[in-house]
Amino acid sequence: MADKLIAEGIHVTAVGRRKDRLDAFVSTHGSSKASSLVADISDISSIPAFAQNAIKQYPTIDALFLNAGMQRNYNFASPSTVKLLQFNEEITTNFTSFVALTHAFLPHLLASPNPTGLIYTGTHISLVPASTMPAYSASKAALDAFIQCIREQLRNTKVNVVHISPPLVQTELHDFEMGAEVGRKMGVPVEEFVAETWAELKEGKKDIYIGSIGASTKDQFMEIADKRAEAIDRLNQLLRKFQ
Ligand SMILES: NC(=O)c1ccc[n+]([C@@H]2O[C@H](COP(=O)([O-])OP(=O)(O)OC[C@H]3O[C@@H](n4cnc5c(N)ncnc54)[C@H](OP(=O)(O)O)[C@@H]3O)[C@@H](O)[C@H]2O)c1
Repeated sequence: MADKLIAEGIHVTAVGRRKDRLDAFVSTHGSSKASSLVADISDISSIPAFAQNAIKQYPTIDALFLNAGMQRNYNFASPSTVKLLQFNEEITTNFTSFVALTHAFLPHLLASPNPTGLIYTGTHISLVPASTMPAYSASKAALDAFIQCIREQLRNTKVNVVHISPPLVQTELHDFEMGAEVGRKMGVPVEEFVAETWAELKEGKKDIYIGSIGASTKDQFMEIADKRAEAIDRLNQLLRKFQ
């Protein structure tokens, strides 16, 4: 997705823990189009200073694309196998860090005279949880709810809040549980996902659902998503009367 954004003329400052990957990304595109910052977003206490530094170095930042994530399996029928520390690390990476980053960057985004954006990568299995991945499903469900809430809170500002819900995509996400050989062959190719997502981003869609989950057709899945969106809208209308 970062490559696509650059191809569309957007400067990307990529963030991650692996400096070699970030350096390769910048050298592929050149420093006029790409830059990078090394950070571990699960280190919540360091996020305010990270944001301050990022804004100082790149004052033209106009959108935050929160995309990092991790996914592990846990079986609570066998509690001794559940690594609770790792479970909580997953919640922190997939949810708590996104809240802290949103909080740290919002003053900058709100102060801009131009439209700005918060873009979040969620997952279909926030709406329909996958039983083998309770931390992932729950953390992304929390993220999904958070996104819906802040979108409503920011409705009278120039900050656009976008939620991308991907299907299974061929990335490194499943390496840990399945190994790279199997994990990177599951789902749709990244290029296909990026092309579809970019088209919807460009169209200005706020909730972008690509593909579906296993065992449900896209229509079956969208029936839930659309009904939920209508219910959220009704509740927002009601809550506005009390503000
Ligand atoms: N692939 C799928 O099937 C799928 C489906 C639905 C949703 N998603 C979501 O898509 C997003 C991207 O995942 P992906 O599939 O591209 O997985 P990936 O190939 O494993 O990429 C994860 C990215 O997140 C970064 N990251 C992870 N933990 C981080 C941390 N603590 N601090 C900073 N950066 C961190 C990684 O960089 P470093 O390791 O260098 O830090 C890496 O660039 C995630 O939110 C995931 O939940 C993926």
